[in-house]
Amino acid sequence: MLLRTIATESQTVSTFPGWRWQPPGKSTDSGFADQSLEKVDRRWVLPIPKCWCSMFGMATVIPLPRSFRESVTEMTEYVLPQHANALGNVFGGQIMAWVDLCAAITAQRHGGHMAVTAFVDDLMFEHPVKVGEVVHLRAQLTATFRTSMEVEVTVTGEDLRTRRRWPCVHAFLTFVCIDDQGKPVQVTPLLIDSEQMEKSQERGAERRAHRLRRTIRNE
Ligand SMILES: CC(C)(COP(=O)(O)OP(=O)(O)OC[C@H]1O[C@@H](n2cnc3c(N)ncnc32)[C@H](O)[C@@H]1OP(=O)(O)O)[C@@H](O)C(=O)NCCC(=O)NCCS
Repeated sequence: MLLRTIATESQTVSTFPGWRWQPPGKSTDSGFADQSLEKVDRRWVLPIPKCWCSMFGMATVIPLPRSFRESVTEMTEYVLPQHANALGNVFGGQIMAWVDLCAAITAQRHGGHMAVTAFVDDLMFEHPVKVGEVVHLRAQLTATFRTSMEVEVTVTGEDLRTRRRWPCVHAFLTFVCIDDQGKPVQVTPLLIDSEQMEKSQERGAERRAHRLRRTIRNE
């Protein structure tokens, strides 16, 4: 039987390999799950149908933390005349659409659910990209919370003839995982496996607090 029991100081949590069953009211204050049990071997993962949980009165099934490496997304776009304005520079709105798309792929890869864009931080267009040049986008998960997550996107331009590259845009986007009814659901926690990721999560939490303050002020 692949069912295992893991004892912790405060609770006993039964898991199917790859999943942790969390009793009601046990979510952590930080917004992302306690990572002490994250060492369960992924090769043994058995998906549990969600209906089992409601049938047996189990409150929450929290997927194991996942590394940001598993959801990095890279996209390359060739700038064509239909992407550009009268000056021959790519439209800001076109870059924003690619940024949203690239980040959404990362969010859904990581979250394992549909994810909607909830917030896009300020965007600054540093240098233009012209028709005939190339836009590179790279999206990486930086922090997860309860049902939301932050994705960082860096955009660079490239002149294919000279291979010269330059920074174009840098953005943070917040996505919320939703279920089939459009209700926010628990996001897969980000695996904190290094000091760098710890800092990334902390900085993401600071930016999130700032965003929420701004949103409340504007309501
Ligand atoms: C995003 C959305 C699902 C949030 O729904 P909601 O009923 O407000 O849900 P909640 O209040 O429970 O918040 C859910 C999460 O969204 C986050 N959130 C909500 N508004 C936010 C904002 N302005 N900035 C950052 N995060 C926000 C909350 O912090 C919460 O995250 P947490 O669980 O990690 O703490 C809902 O507002 C929505 O559907 N918006 C439209 C999304 C959309 O159409 N996007 C464009 C196309 S993809």
